[in-house]
Amino acid sequence: MLETRRLAICDPNTATRDPLRNLLLGVESIYLEAESNRYEFFRDVVEQYRPDLAIITLDSDPNRGLQLIQNLTAEFPQTSILAVSSRTDGQFILQTLRSGAKEFLPLPMQLEDLLTVLDRIKGQNPDPSTGLQQGISATGGMIIAIAGSRGGIGCTSLAVNLGCCLSSIPENRVVLVDLDLALGDTNILLDFRPAYTLSDLASNINEVDQKFLKGVLFQHSSGLMVLPHPENLDDLGLIHEEHILRLLSLLRSTFTHVIVDLSKSFRPTDVAAMRVADVILLTGQLELSSIHNIARLLPTFKSVEGLYDKVRILLNRVGSDDQKISKAKAEEFIGMGVFWQVSNDSRAMMGARNEGKPLIQFAPKSKPCLDLMELARVLTSGAENETPAEPKKKSAFSFFGSRK
Ligand SMILES: Nc1ncnc2c1ncn2[C@@H]1O[C@H](COP(=O)(O)OP(=O)(O)O)[C@@H](O)[C@H]1O
Ligand SMILES: [Mg+2]
Repeated sequence: MLETRRLAICDPNTATRDPLRNLLLGVESIYLEAESNRYEFFRDVVEQYRPDLAIITLDSDPNRGLQLIQNLTAEFPQTSILAVSSRTDGQFILQTLRSGAKEFLPLPMQLEDLLTVLDRIKGQNPDPSTGLQQGISATGGMIIAIAGSRGGIGCTSLAVNLGCCLSSIPENRVVLVDLDLALGDTNILLDFRPAYTLSDLASNINEVDQKFLKGVLFQHSSGLMVLPHPENLDDLGLIHEEHILRLLSLLRSTFTHVIVDLSKSFRPTDVAAMRVADVILLTGQLELSSIHNIARLLPTFKSVEGLYDKVRILLNRVGSDDQKISKAKAEEFIGMGVFWQVSNDSRAMMGARNEGKPLIQFAPKSKPCLDLMELARVLTSGAENETPAEPKKKSAFSFFGSRK
């Protein structure tokens, strides 16, 4: 059976829009969701309907049309764009494809050409059953969700310090989102008073674009950008899954790495972030309650499609006297290998926290900082093939491959 695709058209000229619509209405596998006769309104149409395919006719104002394609590609990567024009010179076609259009078709459009292109776009598109995640990751930065196996396990310390380590690598642009809505403290660790928070974004979600985001993110001296948790507990109810999905999709189109410090309550907003994440760093320590909780959480992750495969176990505070369980025992108990280990150094961690500085500025030579710097290099594109410095971290280098 043919799968129905939802479509939206933007064409300011009725002389070309009407025949295009009539042609589309004749295609069984297409559902024409929306039409717009203005380039400037089409972004909102796409936002509202999230069509699988947007057809944009460029003839009325090619520059505006191309700009629109570029913006839509960045903001709504799950919508494929088909550019249409009566201009068919190679230079122009190339320009449309470079601006982000998946395909180009000349006007007047022939049904056969349209069907061929629809087929091709379908082949390139993510399988809808796999959800949002693959569509976005095909075109954007990496979303790293940091989940904990109990309170005080070190998630915020890891999120902030990994973020700063990643930012110190010149090719990276990194943002940290504090999704611990009630009890987040990324702003304390980095010693700043938020001017804007997630609640400002949630209450203006329809106006949020890349320019808006730039204005609300806090920039730390390390280069890390931060989106803090809401100041006011009353604002928690303002923030829903769809805000998080939209926000993360926008952020990943601008940043190379989006780190999300999750809450420990696995709220719907946390699950939404995990669903679109590329990797979930499930953080534990070599002690009973943490290892037990990881063993309990993993089967739950299996019940949400795609989550389990993205989980990587990160052991924090390795070497501390409190860590009574061996790594091998823990791996056997939870049924998954350890992906990364971060050493214990209470003096460095507490000192950095009290100074409101990241480790990379407060204690760059401390063991946890070096461990996180190495992880940052692995998570930076192209670094996955480096030779591991120590055998204990070997599993990290098969990061995108199968788990050991
Ligand atoms: N690798 C580490 N070595 C020593 N202390 C650590 C380490 N990681 C975290 N800590 C300490 O553990 C405590 C809890 O860390 P935090 O990041 O707030 O955890 P969470 O966000 O999971 O609640 C803090 O006092 C922090 O300084
Ligand atoms: Mg925390």
